[in-house]
Amino acid sequence: MDTHLNFQAVPLGAAIGGPAVALGGLTLFFITEYVKDKKKKSSSFPPPPEVPGLPVIGNLLQLKEKKPHKTFKKWAETYGPIYSIKTGSNNMVVLNTSDVAKEAMVAKYSSISTRKLSNALKILTSDKSIVAVSDYNEFYKAAKRNLLTTTLGPNAQKKHGIHRDVMINNICKQLHDHVKTSSSVAVNFRKIFQSKLFGLSLKQAIGEDVESIYVEELGKTLSRQEIFKILVLDPMEGAIEVDWRDFFPYLKWIPNKSFEQKIQQMHFQRQAVMKALIEQQRKRMASGVEVNCYLDYMFSEANTFSEQQILMLLWEVIIEASDTTLVTTEWAMYELSKDQERQNRLLSEIQNVCGLNKLKEENLCQIPYLAAVFHETLRKHSPVPIVPLRYVHEDVQLGGYYIPEGTEIAINIYGCNMDQKVWDNPEEWKPERFLNGKDNTLELQKTMAFGGGKRVCAGALQAMLISCVAIGRFVQEFEWRLQDGEEENVDTLGLTTHRLHPLLTIIKPRK
Ligand code: HEM
Repeated sequence: MDTHLNFQAVPLGAAIGGPAVALGGLTLFFITEYVKDKKKKSSSFPPPPEVPGLPVIGNLLQLKEKKPHKTFKKWAETYGPIYSIKTGSNNMVVLNTSDVAKEAMVAKYSSISTRKLSNALKILTSDKSIVAVSDYNEFYKAAKRNLLTTTLGPNAQKKHGIHRDVMINNICKQLHDHVKTSSSVAVNFRKIFQSKLFGLSLKQAIGEDVESIYVEELGKTLSRQEIFKILVLDPMEGAIEVDWRDFFPYLKWIPNKSFEQKIQQMHFQRQAVMKALIEQQRKRMASGVEVNCYLDYMFSEANTFSEQQILMLLWEVIIEASDTTLVTTEWAMYELSKDQERQNRLLSEIQNVCGLNKLKEENLCQIPYLAAVFHETLRKHSPVPIVPLRYVHEDVQLGGYYIPEGTEIAINIYGCNMDQKVWDNPEEWKPERFLNGKDNTLELQKTMAFGGGKRVCAGALQAMLISCVAIGRFVQEFEWRLQDGEEENVDTLGLTTHRLHPLLTIIKPRK
């Protein structure tokens, strides 16, 4: 399951059902609509074009196939780069080109800096207690500063370089071991990469990779795989869980027990495991052993965050580091395994720079084709296809249209990165499009994949370092070929761009 916190979690598609509309709720709904309508009429800018939908449910049924980023792009062909839809009683404006997306993220950020969270995300993020979904406020500023200083900024990443080196060496070793024992069997690359990436995220967050832990509140010892499930897989699944009340907030007083129980259970288990991990590390700290990690900094005197905030911020680094980089690297290996010519070109460019030595992070700036493979993969398979929803908190003008306060904003990164006016044959995977010689090889913002403006991805540097070195080393050490039938195996999971089935490839060590 994806997400960069698939905290874009726009739980749009999905079964729409639920109880009969209650009279009180409806009255409130119509009054709100009337007030909005009056405001709209008093503005000198027109409202964006509307995608026609049905009364009460709006466009929900048209989104039920659960690939909102693709449906949004299709609508842009008819209604233009910016249009409005209705998800139940919510008004949402969708932005589909880099120009309007950048206008929203940079020039108009001050009017669109809050987040609108689904009910699932409210619980799973302890009501916005993590950087990625926090509103722009004092908590956000302090938490982001800490995150960059200790973990994700350039200096911190330099200090964590050793963990990345060890991780890539271990993955390559495991791939070689696989070939030694079962050379003709396709390798499930995801299984190996995901586990090592999780180990890295634990080291950066709490200072130690763990094999197991006793969790008092659950009354048992959990294996590493169980910890991964509770901290990463379950919340990602929960993040895209649909509560029909998200679409009809005026009915929020009606209970939705099965949904609440499921999400609360995920929240409870995540809390319990994080507390146990933190407790173990605090004992280490009390014994005088210091480690360069986020946790040690968070519990230093300099900090004023509450215990619950610290728990959530540490968890954020774990979940965010464990997934998007995997999604990108897996798609890159799919594309390269499918395209022997480009795989050979990459190999020869790596060999020209590294000779017989193993590729290192320091070499990246000398191998523009490797960076091009990374950016082209991010463009075509953006791991976060829709930016976590933003919320207009004061009337604003966007792309020449009037957008009233209270509107949700969906920035369709997939739409921006597949825009035919910007990208020639956008469906084609063609790294050469990034070899125009004008850009710095290590420039991170070549596509909209990392978002933009003040809220641009904080982990972009880490993602680039891990993914580029991994792709480079994999191609340097092995010849990659898709297992028969894999070429068509490109379904993605739910609302995400995560491959539904792990990539299966045949690998052969290079001589
Ligand atoms: C290829 C990998 C990745 C992609 C495509 C990606 C994409 C994104 C996107 C689209 C956003 C939202 C930006 C916005 O709201 O405008 C974001 C935010 C964020 N990402 Fe990533 N991300 C990746 C990897 C990572 C990693 C590895 C980490 C941390 C370990 C990370 C941490 C964050 C954080 C903390 C934010 C919130 C920034 C803020 O609100 O100020 N990301 N990312």
